[in-house]
Amino acid sequence: MFKTISVIGSGVMGSGIAQSFAVGGYSVIVNDIKQEFLDKAKKNIHENLNLLVGSGDLTEADRNAALGRIRFTTDLKEAAGEADLIIEAIPEVIDLKWNLYDDLATYKKPDAVVSSNTSTFPITKLTARESFDGKFIITHFFNPANLVPLVEIVKKKDTDLNLVQSVKNLLLSIGKTPVVLKKEINGFIANRLQTALMREAFSLVGQGVADADDVDKAITAGPGFRWAFVGPTRIADFGGLDTWKRVFDNIAPDLDKSEGAPELINKLVSTHKLGTKTGEGLYKYSGDDVRAQLKKRDNYFLELGRIKKVNE
Ligand SMILES: NC(=O)c1ccc[n+]([C@@H]2O[C@H](COP(=O)([O-])OP(=O)(O)OC[C@H]3O[C@@H](n4cnc5c(N)ncnc54)[C@H](O)[C@@H]3O)[C@@H](O)[C@H]2O)c1
Repeated sequence: MFKTISVIGSGVMGSGIAQSFAVGGYSVIVNDIKQEFLDKAKKNIHENLNLLVGSGDLTEADRNAALGRIRFTTDLKEAAGEADLIIEAIPEVIDLKWNLYDDLATYKKPDAVVSSNTSTFPITKLTARESFDGKFIITHFFNPANLVPLVEIVKKKDTDLNLVQSVKNLLLSIGKTPVVLKKEINGFIANRLQTALMREAFSLVGQGVADADDVDKAITAGPGFRWAFVGPTRIADFGGLDTWKRVFDNIAPDLDKSEGAPELINKLVSTHKLGTKTGEGLYKYSGDDVRAQLKKRDNYFLELGRIKKVNE
């Protein structure tokens, strides 16, 4: 059903999504508003594919074939007109998305499916102006999309279940792990879970209970070590639900319940400590530091991906 995939928006997410489909054997068209953005995306994809060659996950011939399957264009009509699936990955600004959807409705093939990589907009809001006759779905990839397997699928109440299944099959065919939400909810699944945990992490650092580094270690060496293979609900079953009842009853009353961003984040943002992009957040960074840390992160993700592929 899906042969050509167009990705609209070639930024952080779009370039990773395009790479995943190209490596998976699909023809990919990448569109952005300026050639310089496409050039940057092309460079990023090339570097990320080289990482796979370096780790032995891809041969040089496969890398070249994947690159050969991606076409870059600033012409939306061309990108939309040839695709069986159009994945929108432009900034999280509703008017930008709606304006793009108006154009896509004009240019796309009648049977083509449109999906959005939105992280926050409900599907009902996205389709409030252009419904695409039900051929619209949310496919929420995780950053870095070329390495993280999860893709959350959000459908509307009346979305054809065959369409959901065919998008799911497509994602499985490129080695992704799709999950389908049974109903719409703000933040979907993974970001709700992540935000709940991060609220408490920032609260612990803010209260002076532990340094950021030790809070991070408490996750990466503890619960996070298990979570790559055993999720939280199964862990509760393994531990015993009577035990977990006591854990909740004893700890839940003390957990942070702030409704907006944690105080510590507000304080850092107000002093322009935004993380790697300004050289300081909870940690301090130099330019080289960041590049080295990202490379190390990507190598760990590759290794973990390999272990998961073998064991699942
Ligand atoms: N960054 C993340 O971690 C992340 C994770 C999951 C989902 N998302 C979601 O993915 C989407 C894209 O986020 P991003 O981080 O890749 O943004 P980004 O700013 O890195 O990239 C967006 C790209 O879209 C291009 N663009 C803007 N308007 C366009 C148009 N009309 N036509 C074609 N291209 C256009 C921009 O030039 C830019 O290159 C957003 O909806 C975001 O919420 C982001």
